[in-house]
Amino acid sequence: MEISEVLIRKPSMEDVHQIVHINRVCLPENYSLQYFISIIQKYKDVSVVAEVDNKVVGYVLTRIERMTKGFVPFSGKRGHVISVAVLPEYRGRGIGSQMMQKVIEKLREEKMEEVILEVRVSNAVARSLYFKLGFHDAEILKRYYLDGEDAALMKLSLVEDSFS
Ligand SMILES: CC(C)(COP(=O)(O)OP(=O)(O)OC[C@H]1O[C@@H](n2cnc3c(N)ncnc32)[C@H](O)[C@@H]1OP(=O)(O)O)[C@@H](O)C(=O)NCCC(=O)NCCS
Repeated sequence: MEISEVLIRKPSMEDVHQIVHINRVCLPENYSLQYFISIIQKYKDVSVVAEVDNKVVGYVLTRIERMTKGFVPFSGKRGHVISVAVLPEYRGRGIGSQMMQKVIEKLREEKMEEVILEVRVSNAVARSLYFKLGFHDAEILKRYYLDGEDAALMKLSLVEDSFS
C-alpha cells in the first residue's frame, strides 16, 4: 500500500477512541478507557501518535516515574513506555521507529535519566526495534503477563554515567 505523509504528533483527548481501537487490535494487554484518558491528560508531552491522512494509525504512550535505588527513593526520574502499537496495515514502514525516536527525544528534553519498557520475550519484531534504538535487556520478569509469558525489561540510558 502506498502511504501518504506520516505526522508524528502529541496525542489529544480527541484521539483517545482511536488509540483504544489500535490497542485492542494490536495487543492482548488492553487497558481501560479511563486509563488511556489519564495517561493522555498527564503525559501528552512525552507520548505521541502517528497520523496518516487524518487517521491515527499508531501510538507510543509513556509515563514519567520516580526512580528508586534498591528500596531507597532517588531524585532521578525516568520515562516508562507503557504501550506501543501500529495498525497491521501500516507496519514495516518506519512508523514505530519514528514514534519511539520522538519519544526518546522528548524524554531527553525533560532530563530523564533513562527509558524503560516491558516486552514479551517472544516479540522478536518489537525487541529488534528496541535493540536498534539502543535499548538493552536489564532483567527478565518471570511470568509477567497474564498468560504466563516472561517479559524482558529493556532499558535505554539517557545519561553518560548511569548506574543501571
Ligand atoms: C512493534 C511495532 C510497533 C513496530 O511498528 P512498525 O511501524 O512496523 O516498526 P518499523 O517499521 O519502524 O520497524 C522497526 C523494526 O522492526 C522490525 N520489523 C518491522 N516489521 C517487521 C517484520 N514484518 N518482520 C521482522 N521485523 C520487522 C525491523 O527490525 C524494523 O527495523 P528495519 O526495518 O529498520 O530493519 C508493530 O509491529 C506493532 O504494533 N506490533 C504489535 C504490538 C506490539 O507488539 N507492540 C510492542 C509491545 S512492547
